[in-house]
Formats: sequence, structure tokens, C-alpha cells
Amino acid sequence: MRTVVYSLRRRLLGWLLISTAVIGVVALMDTYREAVKTANVVSDRVLAGSALAIAERVVVAEDGTLQVDIPYVALEMLTSAAQDRVFYRVDGPPGQFITGYQTLPSLPEVAGQSTSFADAVFRGEPIRLAVLRRSASTGVNSVPFVVTVAETTIARRQLTQTILLHSALRLGLMIAGAALIVWVAVTFSLRPLYRLGDAIAERSPDDLHPIGERVPSEVQGLVDTVNSFMVRLQSALDALRHFTGNASHQLRTPLAIIRTQLALARRAATVDDARAAASKADEAVANAERILAQLLLMAKIDAAAQEEARGSERIELARLARSVTAEQVPAAGEVDIDLGFAGEGEYWIRAEPLLVAELLKNLVGNALLYAGRGAEVTVRVSGLEDEVALEVEDNGPGIRPELREAVLKRFRRGGNEAPGTGLGLPIVEEIAALYGGTMRLEDGEAGRGLRVVVTFPAG
Ligand SMILES: Nc1ncnc2c1ncn2[C@@H]1O[C@H](COP(=O)(O)OP(=O)(O)OP(=O)(O)O)[C@@H](O)[C@H]1O
Ligand SMILES: [Mg+2]
Repeated sequence: MRTVVYSLRRRLLGWLLISTAVIGVVALMDTYREAVKTANVVSDRVLAGSALAIAERVVVAEDGTLQVDIPYVALEMLTSAAQDRVFYRVDGPPGQFITGYQTLPSLPEVAGQSTSFADAVFRGEPIRLAVLRRSASTGVNSVPFVVTVAETTIARRQLTQTILLHSALRLGLMIAGAALIVWVAVTFSLRPLYRLGDAIAERSPDDLHPIGERVPSEVQGLVDTVNSFMVRLQSALDALRHFTGNASHQLRTPLAIIRTQLALARRAATVDDARAAASKADEAVANAERILAQLLLMAKIDAAAQEEARGSERIELARLARSVTAEQVPAAGEVDIDLGFAGEGEYWIRAEPLLVAELLKNLVGNALLYAGRGAEVTVRVSGLEDEVALEVEDNGPGIRPELREAVLKRFRRGGNEAPGTGLGLPIVEEIAALYGGTMRLEDGEAGRGLRVVVTFPAG
């Protein structure tokens, strides 16, 4: 998996720039529209004034025709700006061209409006037209005429461009200013995070005290999570220390016995003494072996707990229990115990078969160790609604009710002479829990002995 490292600061800046750019473009478009409108309003007024000045000079001659004496001032007030060119034409009643540029486009009459404006193209250049409709009076009747004045649009385009450029510059400056502010603000806002990082970095590796630094409320949740994680880590570490302490203590005892017995064997005067010491050492080795096996099993459970998320196999519990029981029959025979299996049918569960076998071996092993010579031990598999139960029952002395809670703790034993670690029942419980099951201790049949019931969810 590739992890992408990203910077909060850059991200915030990116968002700011993108959003202000979008807003800026919209604002500029609006400014442009406004600028065009304003430039038109101003220039149109001059165009209309110019048309009016020409219209004032239209007179009806004695022969009834219209005559006009173009006042050049009227046109000059237009040409004052830029390199714009000015065109005009004056028309009499429909069809009568009087003077000016005959090819200059005009506009159709709009009812109720004496002056109208439009954009057009003349000689390949964009122009703005103002058309003024008037009538000249002869005293008897009035003769309508039309004055059309046009100018190229260079000046107004320059005006709008200047307005646009200025607002774009202002906007750019504002965006740059905002980006700077965000940069500084983010740097300041992130300070508590840097301080937090430094504070954690300065800690010694085994310092798991909660983080006490003051942080912004947005980060408090993260800090709380880390703090509760540290608390759990601390208790896990404590448990591990406790466990390794106990485990090494457990192993030290048989190792010390082995050394002592070996020393005795070396110094033994007779072969019989040496043999006796050797067999005691051998017993201690077997004991150490058993302790190691239990410790390894605990480690295996931890590993399986990590893998559990990936799912476990479907196994048929009756067949597995029958074969584990069969394996233990010779050992049972040695201690004169009648070991049997009961259970018909198939009972499927989801679990790791090796661990379930270890679970059962621990329970049968306990029964063989503690039930006493001549006892009966039964392994039973049965099915409830959505549970499968695995039971190991014996008719030995059992465990006194007040001790039952204690023996479930690691390294706690029932106070008997048989060699052991006190990990068996905790292991059984942990394996059951690993697959969603439970374990409980009950009296055996008729209130005698011990029945250990382990249930698994049916799978
Ligand atoms: N079937 C039983 N009958 C009587 N007492 C039992 C029985 N099973 C367990 N106990 C008691 O419970 C104690 C705890 O058992 P557990 O299996 O946890 O540890 P252990 O047998 O002492 O050591 P380990 O199994 O790790 O070698 C035993 O020491 C024993 O006193
Ligand atoms: Mg045991």
C-alpha cells in the first residue's frame, strides 16, 4: 500500500485558491458585464447628443425639401476619444436620403421611442448606432426625418478592458493576501500539534502516562484515543511482565531440581543412588517440557487471536474429540482410569483443529491427573440449538466451589502434589473464547467429581 503524505497547509491553501478563483472568475464576469453597460450608457448619451445637435439643424427649405447643415462640433464631441471614427446619415421621409454615408445601416422605427441604440458592423468594424426620429415643421405640415449617428467602439472597448484589468488586479491582490493569511494562520494553528509531537518524542519508551498537553478541541479526540490506547498498552505490558515473571519462575524450579539431581548423581556412591537421582532429574525434565509446552500453547493462542479475523476452518467436533480421547486411552490405562467417549452424530464448529485438540488434551490430562486411580472419565460432545458442547466429566474429588474461580487464573493451582503450571484451565478458557465459546466448571454426576463444559457456537 502506498501512503500519500499530504500537507494540511497545502490542502487548505489549495481549497482557498480554488474557491477564490471560482468566485473571482464569476466576479470578473459580472464586472465585465457592468463595465460594458456603463461604457455604453456614457457613450450612448454622447451619441444621442450628437444626433440631437444634427437634428436641430434640419430645416424645411422653401421648396418643401429637407436641408441640413451638419454642425461639425456635433461630430467632434464624439471623435475626441481614442481613434474612433464617426459616421452619420440623415434621411427624409421614407426613401429620401439627404446626406451622409448612404451605406450606413439604420434602425427600424420603434413605437414610442424617438431615440434608439444598437450594435452593428460597418465596413468590417463593430460600431454603435444611435437613431433619432424627428419631424421638421413647415408651419402647414410636418416632414419626418431620421438622423443616424454611429461611431466605432474602440474607446468603449478600451474603457471596459481597463475596468476589467483593474478589478482583476485588485482581486489577485486580495487572493494573494488571503493565501498569506491562511498560511500564517495554519502555521500558528498547527503549533499545538508540533508541540504534542515533540512532547511524545521526548518521552522515554516505557513512559505510557496519558498525554497532558493542552491541544485544540479538534485534536482532543485523537489525544483521548491515544491516551486510552496507552492505558491498554500499559496494562498489556504489565500482564506480559507478570506472565514472563511467572513463567521464568515456573521453569526455574525444575531446572534447579535437574541441577541438584545431576550433582547428586555425580557424587553418588552406588549405582542405585545415581539411578534414583537420574530418574528424579528425568522427571524434572519432563515437568519443564510440560511447562514449555503450555507456554508455547499460550503464545500460539495469541497468534491465532491475531489471525482469527481472517476466519477459521469448519471442523467436526465429535470426530476430533473421539480421536483425541482414543490417543489418551493408553495413558489412562497406566493410571487405572476408565476413559470413554460419548456422542452420536456430527457437530460442526468454526475453529482451529490443533487448538481445539490442545484444549481437550488439557481437560483430559487434568482428569487423569486429579481424578485418582479407578476413576471414570467421560468425554462427551452434544448439540444444543445453536451451540455445540464439549464436556469432560470425572468422578474424582472435583474442585471445591470456593476454589473454582481461583483455578481459572493463570498459574493458580488447586494445591495438589501433581506437577503442573496452573495454565491448563486458563488456556482452555482462552481457546474457547477465541472461537466465541465459553467454559464453565460444574459438579459431576450425582454431585461427585468435576464436569468441565465448553460450548462453541455451531458453525
Ligand atoms: N478434573 C479435575 N479434578 C480435580 N481438580 C482439578 C481437575 N482439573 C483441574 N483441577 C484443579 O485445578 C487446578 C488448575 O488446573 P490447570 O489445568 O489450570 O493447571 P494445572 O493442571 O495445575 O497445570 P497445567 O495444566 O498448566 O500443567 C489444578 O491444579 C487442580 O488443582
Ligand atoms: Mg492442567
